[in-house]
Amino acid sequence: DESNPSKITSQAATPPRSVVGIGGKVEKPDYSEAKIILAMVGLPARGKSYLSNKLMRYLKWLEYDVKVFNVGQLRRSRANQKREQSGVKEDHTASYFSHGNEEANRRREQLAHDSLEMLIQWLKDGGNVGIHDATNSTRERRAYIERRVAKEKGMALIFLESVCDDPEVIAANVALKVSMGDPDYKDMSPEDAKRDFLRRIKEYEAVYEPVTEPHLSYFKIINVGEQATVCRIHGYLQSRVAFYLMNLHLKPRSIFFSRHGESQYNVEGKIGGDADLSERGLKYANALPDLIRDNIGDAPLTVWTSTLRRTIQTASFLPYPKLTWKSLDELDAGVCDGMTYEEIELAYPDDFANRDDDKFNYRYRGGESYRDVVLRLEPVIMELERQENVLVVGHQAILRCLYAYFHNLPQADLPYIKIPLHTVIKLTPKAYGCDEERYTLPIGAVDTHRPKPKTTQPGSPSKLGTGRQYYAENI
Ligand code: F6P
Repeated sequence: DESNPSKITSQAATPPRSVVGIGGKVEKPDYSEAKIILAMVGLPARGKSYLSNKLMRYLKWLEYDVKVFNVGQLRRSRANQKREQSGVKEDHTASYFSHGNEEANRRREQLAHDSLEMLIQWLKDGGNVGIHDATNSTRERRAYIERRVAKEKGMALIFLESVCDDPEVIAANVALKVSMGDPDYKDMSPEDAKRDFLRRIKEYEAVYEPVTEPHLSYFKIINVGEQATVCRIHGYLQSRVAFYLMNLHLKPRSIFFSRHGESQYNVEGKIGGDADLSERGLKYANALPDLIRDNIGDAPLTVWTSTLRRTIQTASFLPYPKLTWKSLDELDAGVCDGMTYEEIELAYPDDFANRDDDKFNYRYRGGESYRDVVLRLEPVIMELERQENVLVVGHQAILRCLYAYFHNLPQADLPYIKIPLHTVIKLTPKAYGCDEERYTLPIGAVDTHRPKPKTTQPGSPSKLGTGRQYYAENI
């Protein structure tokens, strides 16, 4: 049953190997063997940069080292250098992209070549996935890339073609390019910029050859979310990329995050457990349906909870279809489950200090680290990409991980993201990243956010004093 994501969780691919080091520290998975070149293909305004950036965000979240090599940016930065050095301004209007313009063609080929060389060097220096963000729209160009990559041992080459014939999506992409202050058009009026960009597209159309070479490895995505072709794709990471691309869509929607209402354990300063809501938590659960309805009106919404009582109780008054995910359960604190931070510091001072030292990697004895949680949330991310409006009623650590994915936040910051109780966070995906709004209901709750201590020596008392202190009133 593919409509039931809780089933999907049980079929999740085996997570990459991770090693437990001293003091519960989990080492980064070993991805050193993964060397992939993803070469984009497609006309301008077909969402190549959008797909490149989404893929980068997803793979980085899974801890692969990923970099986008955008040929347009290289062209602009070289042109700027030239202008600064010699005062000569290169003409990058549509005629520069005409196949009849031999001089410009030569320069464009050179740029594609140079950025591929940079990408290959970067892979040799330890990178995992290099994305060649260019049009690569002729067979000749692709054959060149293929010959070049074949000279390198252990590097896989995959083309990713984005085909789009939906006039609305193309028009939106053109408008975005023109309105986002694209450096190519900064000296033109919006009308001239649009006219020129449409001419540029025509120049590319004149020579565009869709990928049909039967011996190549490629993905072809048609109107993001409508149709996907996968050809000669082998290997774990490659299949993962294919699966991800197949789940993307561009329909407008919002993703809402809310922690459960305040729980009895929150009030007592205890972590983990499966406590009921406090009286104030219950008030939040009662108030939540109005907040959501005010925001979304009659649009369809699905509510996801964990299997723990506090999220199920919080969602209980929401009049929408609900799904329960085991993968959304709070980070497992192992032997520390049910203790206050103060008790943990007394019972396991070294562990406590180690966690403060590297919170993302620290794995509780018999429990999990943030890194473990990121891996177990992968099917949730995949399903969130596939769905439209979703409200996730979750937990502090879980929502930090999901939030970091959507905002592309670094691992070191992730465990300290502020996700307060009694607050709904609304994320609306945009071309690059997400817009965010936060709604806090005026229902008091404890503050469970524990900031990173300035300095902590293993075994010495925390600079923050007792655990109780972290539980200041919110309102
Ligand atoms: O305190 C509430 C809580 O959800 C605990 O159950 C959980 O262990 C903790 O937050 C996670 O936050 P942190 O990683 O900052 O300890």
